[in-house]
Amino acid sequence: MAAFLQMNIRLNSIKIVPGRYSSLTDHQFRAPYRIRCAAASPGKKRYNIALLPGDGIGPEVISVAKNVLQKAGSLEGLEFDFQEMPVGGAALDLVGVPMPEETFTAAKQSDAILLGAIGGYKWDKNEKHLRPEMALFYLRRDLKVFANLRPATVLPQLIDASTLKKEVAEGVDMMIVRELTGGIYFGEPRGIKINENGEEVGISTEIYAAHEIDRIARVAFETARKRRGKLCSVDKANVLDASILWRKRVTALASEYPDVELSHMYVDNAAMQLIRDPKQFDTIVTNNIFGDILSDEASMITGSIGMLPSASLGESGPGLFEPIHGSAPDIAGQDKANPLATILSAAMLLKYGLGEEKAAKRIEDAVVDALNKGFRTGDIYSPGNKLVGCKEMGEEVLKSVESKVPATV
Ligand code: IPM
Ligand code: MG
Repeated sequence: MAAFLQMNIRLNSIKIVPGRYSSLTDHQFRAPYRIRCAAASPGKKRYNIALLPGDGIGPEVISVAKNVLQKAGSLEGLEFDFQEMPVGGAALDLVGVPMPEETFTAAKQSDAILLGAIGGYKWDKNEKHLRPEMALFYLRRDLKVFANLRPATVLPQLIDASTLKKEVAEGVDMMIVRELTGGIYFGEPRGIKINENGEEVGISTEIYAAHEIDRIARVAFETARKRRGKLCSVDKANVLDASILWRKRVTALASEYPDVELSHMYVDNAAMQLIRDPKQFDTIVTNNIFGDILSDEASMITGSIGMLPSASLGESGPGLFEPIHGSAPDIAGQDKANPLATILSAAMLLKYGLGEEKAAKRIEDAVVDALNKGFRTGDIYSPGNKLVGCKEMGEEVLKSVESKVPATV
């Protein structure tokens, strides 16, 4: 408990009510969440995976993705011990806090974390420190997962689902590298205060230290190097001091990556260029808030936010893998959610979190196969295809994983 409290107190702008950061009781810990421990089989690699289903459609998409992960892994000789823990609104309902101590410990001690979605109308009026989203910030900050990789790829099968013209959208394949543990999301001073006129003022601070810019820029240069060798750094250096430093540090690092072509773009222009000509982008690196906004925009080019996975990585420790969509409370529990973003997040978990590229490729291939067969959830449906629910989409991907010859990487 002590360690977890210290962790929260470090987020010093947030009002902490120590008594509310309670532990799960034995009873709450066991039901409905359980720890599954499979018996070890010889010759198999084992990994501990923390599953954090969260809220809304989170549990539906996680249960589907878990089965796919298990199957693809077993075909490559991998075994997983899954530990499912409450987070966000689910944890608030259970123990009154969005991030129980045991959940954080399980996440921290795992080899990788797969998260569903967090939040919902029910908790919208909660005080800030008791909002479900706080769990995400604790996880990101205290696991130190500063690099958030958000790919946006237009699959030919889904070209009709894009809101852009076919010729603009087809062939889009970009990676947004979003800084995740700094900037305006965490900067001090912050909060709602009273100014000298007695009026309420809301304060958030965009602040970046040189080392925070350098480390995310290095991830981005390395990412671009493995892709098409083009990196666009997005900032607002015509207005914001934090962006002026951002541009200076990114530019200074470019000489270490002569094989990468670096360009810079202001964020307002980048928002426009993403719609005008998205194919010009290969890798984008940007700060926390611009990355949040631009990745939602990029997702729509691909047809649906329900398709996009993400990976959040630090220098060491487990990575956090989650779909970029939210908890969609309007369709929760109706078997309508698109599980593909979470399934593809499981593929990223294998690739970036565990270095298991073959198993990852099996999942990616299976998703394409299920789409080739015409299976579509409502969000990506177009006439002539087969409308399926979350579970059935999961079953189709599972079938494809099982039926495929071993993938070559
Ligand atoms: C995201 C989300 C979160 C963010 C919200 C839910 C706090 O929009 O992961 O993109 O702003 O980072
Ligand atoms: Mg977002």
